[in-house]
Amino acid sequence: MCGIVGFTGRREASPVLLEGLRRLEYRGYDSAGMVTSTGDDLHLRKKAGRLAELGKLVAAHPAPGRHGISHTRWATHGGATDRNAHPHLSANNDIAVVHNGVIENFATLKHQLRADGVVFRSDTDTEVLSHLISRYYQGDLLAAVTTALGLVKGTYGLAVIAKAEPGVVVGARLGSPLVIGIGPDGHYLASDASALAGFAEKVVYLGDRQVCHLDGTEYVIRNQDFDPVDVPVHDIARYLGDAERGDFPHFMLKEIYEQPETLANAMRGRFDADATAHFGGLNLGARQVRQVERVIMTACGTSYHAAMVGEYLFEELARVPVEVEYASEFRYRNPPVDRGTVVLALTQSGETADTLAALRESKRLGHTTLAICNTVGSTIAREADGGVYLRAGPEIGVASTKAFTSQVCVLTMLALYLGRTRHLSGAQGQRVIDDLRALPAAVRKALECHDQVKRVAAKYAAARNVLYLGRQYLYPVALEGALKLKEISYIHAEGYPAAEMKHGPIALVDENTPSVFLAPRGNVFDKVMSNMQEIKARGGPVIAVASAGDDEVPALADDVIPIPDVPEYLQPVVAAIPLQLLAYEIAVLCGCDVDKPRNLAKSVTVE
Ligand code: G6P
Repeated sequence: MCGIVGFTGRREASPVLLEGLRRLEYRGYDSAGMVTSTGDDLHLRKKAGRLAELGKLVAAHPAPGRHGISHTRWATHGGATDRNAHPHLSANNDIAVVHNGVIENFATLKHQLRADGVVFRSDTDTEVLSHLISRYYQGDLLAAVTTALGLVKGTYGLAVIAKAEPGVVVGARLGSPLVIGIGPDGHYLASDASALAGFAEKVVYLGDRQVCHLDGTEYVIRNQDFDPVDVPVHDIARYLGDAERGDFPHFMLKEIYEQPETLANAMRGRFDADATAHFGGLNLGARQVRQVERVIMTACGTSYHAAMVGEYLFEELARVPVEVEYASEFRYRNPPVDRGTVVLALTQSGETADTLAALRESKRLGHTTLAICNTVGSTIAREADGGVYLRAGPEIGVASTKAFTSQVCVLTMLALYLGRTRHLSGAQGQRVIDDLRALPAAVRKALECHDQVKRVAAKYAAARNVLYLGRQYLYPVALEGALKLKEISYIHAEGYPAAEMKHGPIALVDENTPSVFLAPRGNVFDKVMSNMQEIKARGGPVIAVASAGDDEVPALADDVIPIPDVPEYLQPVVAAIPLQLLAYEIAVLCGCDVDKPRNLAKSVTVE
């Protein structure tokens, strides 16, 4: 989603700002801009569309100066236009602001400012901030920002500069992440440490309601009472991984192919001689685990689908009741607080606004909160009472792939850990470990279906509607397969429990509406075959993901994609592979921008 990069120091700012924004591109945006300062003037450049457009503008009209702020915007208030792009300047052009988040009371503030004669130049909520800060500015930018924020309701990650304070960048955070970078050439401010790789050596994460003041040589962080605070300094290397695309045409494909490796990483060193799993940062000992009576899993998007698989896993392996709830719903519910409830947030980025809010609400209610998270040092990773990292490396493709399979893998290990404090015997625990250890090889085998997936994609790329059907463990995978297809190819797709389609979606079935069935061998195989018959009887084409060598499925399905056999509770990981590849290949055939699908953002930091 929106990205912020700021710099002040001993080199020209605009190349740093452009490069920093480039690294945040994957998060999704629809306009970009920067402002630099030469002391006598602020140089504003902004443009709707891709970052390349801003790059061209800056090449034609350079933005000089050794300090500046920049932004990639994902439109919320006001369309994706040049005038709505950030930075926003105050009426007298003395203050410039870039902002992530939402100013909820902007309409009231705008009304008041207009009554005082301020003329607005954009439709954004952010612009009120530049006018407010300018109003309170009396030679001390940090003080003016603090006073202005006192009037604001909502969330923000903010970077501000003032014409009259050369070399100074002020930042503020409430709800939207902001990190200070410390490097040999100066100081940086960014919404995500990955923007600062190669520039900064150390990073400092700003906390909520903290403000900071940077110049080329010093930085100061203050709390809301304006007292200086000491915030830990981290080595940036720990927070970054390999974010290069290599020989792959898209990050998404690279990430799909990384899965044997990322799964192995998720497990490495986490099994012990007692036939159970252990996790360094879970902060939940055996005694506390025994007292867990209920787990609420909360998440958004793909992470929500992983949580749904988790419900089946915890029920089977740990015999613990699980509720799965969209974070955006859970945060506004008022669930009865009972002792023994643990809230588990699942998130790749660790920054999703709704998931963070759900976690904070759970903490306020007194629940133990845990997180399964990929991004080291992210807000959710830092705020949960304990958690498990996925160790999947940076996920750049907006459509999540490797994070999903790693989440399911970690959920299986967590279920094993809980199960082993309850009813699972050592032999049963060891069997789960052996099954898990065989998973990376099974996924490698599943990837061999790629050529067949390409053929299937070519046959069905013109479809406008696709159904995805699965049962039990594979019902959430059907939802995930449908999500992948709609995210990156813009083809309408519905995921359903296979038997439930009789209650509505079957009305959609005709010769132009293919159904993707998840039909590997297992407990409900015969039931799924009956559901497949029902679709065939109505003339619907059937694509079946089936166990390699199955002799029944090919007789019924129009196209078969083989996957290796694994125990039923691990089928979600293996069955996800062909669905990821199918969405990818169809999107490529449709000419879509696979890694940066329209309207979507990698990290959704607004409600
Ligand atoms: C966005 C992304 C999805 C992701 C979801 C949750 O919508 O486009 O791919 O699944 O956010 O993100 P999280 O980082 O919390 O897993």
